[in-house]
Amino acid sequence: MKKTQASNKMKNVGLFFATFLFMSALILTSTQSKAQPTKPWVAPPAALAVKNPFAGDANAAKEGKKLYVTYCTPCHGNTGKGDGIAAASVNPKPADHTSDKVQSEPDGSLYWKMTEGRGPMISYKQLLKDDQRWQLVCYIKTLGKKK
Ligand code: HEC
Repeated sequence: MKKTQASNKMKNVGLFFATFLFMSALILTSTQSKAQPTKPWVAPPAALAVKNPFAGDANAAKEGKKLYVTYCTPCHGNTGKGDGIAAASVNPKPADHTSDKVQSEPDGSLYWKMTEGRGPMISYKQLLKDDQRWQLVCYIKTLGKKK
């Protein structure tokens, strides 16, 4: 009887330490992911100079919208504000495509970022064709006007 009580106590202590270790690990990893670098994401000069083959093409923006709804809204949201359903769980937060910062970026810069990806934003180099990425740029550039 006494022995079982003692071993139960040992079990409790063991459980306590296991929980403690688990919680510490959790806290450590969460602070580490918060400390991720959020340096400004800047495209190289050569990428900025690349011209959008669909610039000003309303049809391309329409095609881009379809792609956007499929691939981008989970993070960037239905209106591009960066408030999609998955936005809360990614760090850093998805960019606000309606912002002046994104709207004033050269097309080549947005295209390059989609191609390369960074952090939670994956590279769309393989997933989408060149034309599709330019069409997405066209669509993103229509988002600033509907604030
Ligand atoms: C898993 C979530 C996620 C998805 C899906 C996603 N993005 Fe992003 N996007 C991000 C995050 C996070 C950032 C900010 C990355 C950073 O600053 O390091 C970002 C940034 C960007 C930027 C850069 C904006 C700037 O600051 O210049 C562009 C352009 C962009 N996304 C376009 C797209 C397009 C187009 C799609 C769909 C094909 C897409 N994203 C899908 C999460 C996502």
